[in-house]
Amino acid sequence: MGMLGAGAVVAGVPVAALLFLLAMRWAPVAPTLFAIGMTVLAAMLFALRWSRDVQVLSGTIRRVGADESASQPGQPVLPGMQRLAGDLERLARRSAARSALIEQLRRADGTVVERLPDPLIVLAADRSVGRANSAARAAFGADMPAVLRHPELRAAIDRAFASETTETADMTLPVPVPREVHAAVVPMDPPIADGGRAVVVLSDRTRERAVERMRADFVANVSHELRTPLASLIGFIDTLRGPAADDPPAQQRFLAIMGEQAARMNRLIDDLLSLSRIELVEHQPPSGSVDLGELATRLIAGFEPRLRERSVQLDVRIQGDLPAVVGDADQLVQVLQNLLDNAVKYGREGGTVRFEIAAAAGRAGAVITVTDQGAGIPREHLPRLTERFYRVDTSRSRAAGGTGLGLAIVKHIVNRHRGQLSIESEEGVGTTVRVWLPQTVAQRPVASDIPA
Ligand SMILES: Nc1ncnc2c1ncn2[C@@H]1O[C@H](COP(=O)(O)OP(=O)(O)OP(=O)(O)O)[C@@H](O)[C@H]1O
Ligand SMILES: [Mg+2]
Repeated sequence: MGMLGAGAVVAGVPVAALLFLLAMRWAPVAPTLFAIGMTVLAAMLFALRWSRDVQVLSGTIRRVGADESASQPGQPVLPGMQRLAGDLERLARRSAARSALIEQLRRADGTVVERLPDPLIVLAADRSVGRANSAARAAFGADMPAVLRHPELRAAIDRAFASETTETADMTLPVPVPREVHAAVVPMDPPIADGGRAVVVLSDRTRERAVERMRADFVANVSHELRTPLASLIGFIDTLRGPAADDPPAQQRFLAIMGEQAARMNRLIDDLLSLSRIELVEHQPPSGSVDLGELATRLIAGFEPRLRERSVQLDVRIQGDLPAVVGDADQLVQVLQNLLDNAVKYGREGGTVRFEIAAAAGRAGAVITVTDQGAGIPREHLPRLTERFYRVDTSRSRAAGGTGLGLAIVKHIVNRHRGQLSIESEEGVGTTVRVWLPQTVAQRPVASDIPA
């Protein structure tokens, strides 16, 4: 209602009464006109004030609606209006605080999704992808479309939307490298702040599955490795009881073979135990310090008979002032022994094996290099040599009494020492195995040790 209207409402009744008095000639003309003038003036003044106060209040209400803070220009003057203004002011403050909180919660939702370490994808109500969090972008970046298109996942999403319960899917992504991915589709009711109606939690199970397969393979391999000598022992026992019962020379021959088979099983078990002991402590690096030169010299002396057996020349080159390396002496002996053993076993009969230890070039530590002139190892086998029981030529390794665990043991020991193992080989030329071991960190001299 405009100002004039308000004035008319206020002044209307008294002015009508005064005009009535005037018309009936009950009141004198001049004072009555004066009274009418005054009444209209008072009404206009009141209407002016009233409309200003109403304007102030409606300004405040507008700001509350627009979520602005309600510090307003001017204060209403009319009684009652002031209280109303105070109430509005408080309402405005509460409303502002509440919308700030809502905004904060909304952003918190987004931050939680973005920062969670698991790869997450938020799906909108129409099942389109709302967004993928940083873990998902990092883990599946380019593979994301393949993940989302996967029929298993699509089916799980459909089921989850239909049943409003969490549904899971296992998928295999074939390219670029095969990956096994587990997905859980979690419907969100009520929806999360940005409207997401479901969250897909992805986890890459490739490694887990590989470990499971390796464990199964390992058990199968161990059983197989033990079964061969065991079967031969059982066979010979039967022969000794039956056909060879009265043939002492044959008995001697068979017993010798049985002894070998038993020794082989013994070696296998020793190697397996040794491997599991190393694995147990693989996460904690050794604390000792080892002089590789001295260690190697002692070991080589013990190798003489093996070298003679295969007429192998050993060309030893140990650098004089080798840095001490971080190490467990017993385990490093196992490394050297395995590498030398392989070089002699798979090297050329009558050939030369070079055994070299020198300070590493460019990094603190020592490098052990063992080179043979054997048949070498075809390229495709190189990456798998350090797997347990992996052999290039199974029958040859078995015939030589090998268990196929030597390089696996070497790899785990080198890992524990935080070193590096590399194998290079050229068919027909020979094989070179290198082990780098980090240098012992020198104790800092204490201040009093430094001469003045
Ligand atoms: N210097 C080498 N030249 C050619 N082939 C090698 C050489 N070293 C290792 N290999 C191949 O790698 C396989 C694995 O070696 P590893 O030392 O682990 O087992 P192994 O020698 O057969 O048995 P073990 O070491 O337990 O006696 C061997 O069977 C052999 O085929
Ligand atoms: Mg070996």
